[in-house]
Amino acid sequence: MRRKLAAGNWKMNGLAADLSELDAMQDAADGAAEVLICPPATLIGQAVARRGAIAIGGQDCHKSGSGAHTGDISAPMLADAGASHVILGHSERRTDHDEHDDDVRAKCRAAWEAGLVAVVCVGETLEEREAQNTLDIIAGQLAGSVPDGATGHNLVIAYEPVWAIGTGKVPSTDEIGDVHDFIRARLERRFGEGVGRSVRILYGGSVKPGNATEIFAVSNVDGALVGGASLKAADFVPIINALGASSA
Ligand code: 13P
Repeated sequence: MRRKLAAGNWKMNGLAADLSELDAMQDAADGAAEVLICPPATLIGQAVARRGAIAIGGQDCHKSGSGAHTGDISAPMLADAGASHVILGHSERRTDHDEHDDDVRAKCRAAWEAGLVAVVCVGETLEEREAQNTLDIIAGQLAGSVPDGATGHNLVIAYEPVWAIGTGKVPSTDEIGDVHDFIRARLERRFGEGVGRSVRILYGGSVKPGNATEIFAVSNVDGALVGGASLKAADFVPIINALGASSA
């Protein structure tokens, strides 16, 4: 009922020449899993022009549709460039740009107004996990970052433990399952069973070809938000294929 989603976040990586990697991902994108690549904003237009079945997304948007905000990009601009999704509230944005839940919520509203699917990121730091505060942190981020009006079509949640991003460390499958089940229950409680069950929940943080199959077998894992391993087709295609196989 929920189509699996393999999402790649290129972060601040990628020049025009790297779009050849997108070409090499085309065939895999015709399979069972939906594929999304979020390149840097400078490449969105070119990526859209050669995306095939791959959806293209932004990595952030401003909460306003237009105005005097030098250097920022609005949700209508992303949509106009051909993007269909936008990542919001990534932990790197929360840290580097001091974004808080209320900022993410306002951006999410702006994304929805522009017709974009919001991929809202939540996740605990190592300190928070060690203090056994993980579920409280996730609950607070979900309540604060996601506005009313979510549906299975306009929202994707990405659970990304901060300590697992770019570190090669991954929570155990039990730990991932506990958080994903908790997120599902929270979504159902707030938005009703139908909507809560239809929102996809991705895992992100050091997903690689070697651990993807194991992670995709966990309950309520509907795909992945992949950083480093989404930059090269040689890494991302096996992850897309593992996801497709998990939904068979
Ligand atoms: P890595 O896959 O490089 O750990 O990054 C995960 C991430 O932050 C995706 O948004």
